[in-house]
Amino acid sequence: MRTLKKVFLTGAAGFIGSRTAQFLLDQQIEVVAVDNLNNYYDPKLKEHRLIPLNQSKLFHFYPADIENLSQMREIFQAHQKQTPFDAIINLAARAGVRYSMENPHIYLSTNAQGTLNLLELAREFAIGKFTLASTSSLYAGCQMPFNEELAVNTPISPYAASKKAAEAMCYSYHSLYQLDVSVVRYFTVFGPAGRPDMSLYRFIKWIQAEKAIELYGDGTQSRDFTFVDDIARGTIAATTHDVGYEVINLGGGRNPVTLLQIIEKLEKLIGKKAIIDFQPAHCADLKETWADIQKAHQLLHWKPEISLDEGLAKTVQWHRDFDL
Ligand SMILES: NC(=O)c1ccc[n+]([C@@H]2O[C@H](COP(=O)([O-])OP(=O)(O)OC[C@H]3O[C@@H](n4cnc5c(N)ncnc54)[C@H](O)[C@@H]3O)[C@@H](O)[C@H]2O)c1
Repeated sequence: MRTLKKVFLTGAAGFIGSRTAQFLLDQQIEVVAVDNLNNYYDPKLKEHRLIPLNQSKLFHFYPADIENLSQMREIFQAHQKQTPFDAIINLAARAGVRYSMENPHIYLSTNAQGTLNLLELAREFAIGKFTLASTSSLYAGCQMPFNEELAVNTPISPYAASKKAAEAMCYSYHSLYQLDVSVVRYFTVFGPAGRPDMSLYRFIKWIQAEKAIELYGDGTQSRDFTFVDDIARGTIAATTHDVGYEVINLGGGRNPVTLLQIIEKLEKLIGKKAIIDFQPAHCADLKETWADIQKAHQLLHWKPEISLDEGLAKTVQWHRDFDL
């Protein structure tokens, strides 16, 4: 087990990054954090997520870009002088599957080049541990439940391809410089202050506003939904465990739930009926996802703790309390 006293966290104003930062701070771990606060979705939501984090003396935030190696190096130099980082957790990314078709260049530069910059800094500053957020999107075309041993050679979106590049680069740095790497592949993460481009967030908004839900496909596509707090805990567990180089699924691990079932649950929680506008299925979307999470249990003693219904209730409550 690796004791964490101070970590470098990227994407800290993001949906998952902000929860991960909060969990680290709750454990009295110092967090040096960056996020470029880009406008892929409303940066007000990113500012909102930073408010509770900024209240901690252990949180140091920089509005900086992981693609800018010299800017990153300056932050490392300033902080390594005091106490060295115990780990780098790289959650910053361009994360939307569909938008990756519109602007593939930014996906490769942030997700692959940005990861490479951080790996270089890990080498330069002798930081022994690196955790990379990756994705279930890599399992396109594979047999379910998705197991980490499957060859993932058919990424069907620039997003998935950019994450595959990042994973491969991590392996090179592990092999060449003995960097300990945990690649955590997340499965459809949901929860309060979620990403506005993700279906669950959009469904809630539309049902609340009594507007038609744009649903791509016939709604029978299914996902292994995972609550954000479970993902944050799993990410930290993957960072505290030395594994060599391992890819580890973090998913709900329960039978996948269809989007139609999700909509039905949301209707009950919100107390309104959904109007559905069926659109053709999207070619970059997977039909279904389902995580085999035995490895996370064996290596990290991690299991998801929040049920789908409990997580959905917390998510809908957040949308009642905040209108961002
Ligand atoms: N949400 C999911 O269901 C899901 C599933 C699989 C994998 N992931 C991965 O988890 C990580 C976090 O995703 P999220 O859902 O929290 O998305 P998010 O967009 O809310 O968070 C990503 C954060 O990274 C920041 N960022 C983007 N480019 C940057 C750059 N060049 N420099 C610095 N900061 C930059 C963004 O401003 C954003 O705040 C990503 O790596 C994503 O690919 C998410």
